[in-house]
Amino acid sequence: MKNIYKNSKKNLNKAKNILIKNNIIAVPTETVYGLAGNAYSDVSIKKIYKLKKRPKKNPLIIHYYNLKNLKNDAYIDKKFLKLYKKFSPGPLTYVLQKKNESKISNLANCKLKTIAVRFPKNNIIRNLLKKLKFPLAIPSANVSSSISPVKTSDVIDEFGKKIKFILDGGTSKIGLESTVINLYGKIQILRPGDITREKIGNILKKKISILKKTKELKSPGLLKKHYSPGIPIKLNCDKADKKTAFLVFGKKYKKSKNVFNLSVNGNLKEAAKNLYKTLRKIKNLNYKKINVVKIPNYSIGVAINDRLKRASN
Ligand code: TXA
Ligand code: MG
Repeated sequence: MKNIYKNSKKNLNKAKNILIKNNIIAVPTETVYGLAGNAYSDVSIKKIYKLKKRPKKNPLIIHYYNLKNLKNDAYIDKKFLKLYKKFSPGPLTYVLQKKNESKISNLANCKLKTIAVRFPKNNIIRNLLKKLKFPLAIPSANVSSSISPVKTSDVIDEFGKKIKFILDGGTSKIGLESTVINLYGKIQILRPGDITREKIGNILKKKISILKKTKELKSPGLLKKHYSPGIPIKLNCDKADKKTAFLVFGKKYKKSKNVFNLSVNGNLKEAAKNLYKTLRKIKNLNYKKINVVKIPNYSIGVAINDRLKRASN
């Protein structure tokens, strides 16, 4: 495809020039691929919402190269710094109080008091951020409520030719979106991910809970149907008929045409990496239903179950 660009100095400069003109590109990160736009520009942010068909009330994560660049936009405290030192750059997103003088577009954070910020670890996106004079708003590169992309062909699967420039970073290392932690008011995980509540709790020396009730629009990504292949998903199954895709985990399941194993070795990290890839494959094979076995609910298994649950809504 002509819209896929390999990682090179020349292509990073091309990407930079597109972003300066307030246009949108697709980029790799260690979690999933994203759609990137200038976070200071209303024009860019509007383009992102339109492309994703994203509800106007679902705020975006702002991606930075480092702390220095964040200080104009958000208030930081000791707890944040402790977590930052341990986990950033990496798959952890912090919800912080936004500064009044911040140049971040109000459309990006839906006029909330807070902004969500992340320092991605993937080298390609880091090299790009380093070249820019503005941070990037980067939601996952899927149409709203669909499955997140983990490679360039997934982005094309979602947007066809609408995205003219996709930076190629191979397959996303983690394969699930970042953990989102609220640090403004009650400290709480809004979206589970690779950085678990135990890991965060160890650093803050405090028990960390995961938001369950979604009365408020705290993290709208958590509210409704999401991460969905567009076909019914049934959880905690122990079998499936031949017409139903059977999503399994571990070595006790026999190979068969309709059996899709997230990790034969029962490795949760591997299962996380394979989850979206496998759901997309099942969708594209035109299965009409998916049955999923019970997946262990610890470590990154918590995030896998969170996404499966929302996908099954
Ligand atoms: O791993 C990731 O975080 C990926 C990659 C591309 O970096 N990005 C991503 O963005 O998952 P997105 O837009 O698909 O999900 C953003 C999540 C949503 O659940 C949103 O509600 C939450 O972050 N969020 C953003 N700003 C927020 C805020 N101010 N307060 C609470 N939640 C916020
Ligand atoms: Mg998303």
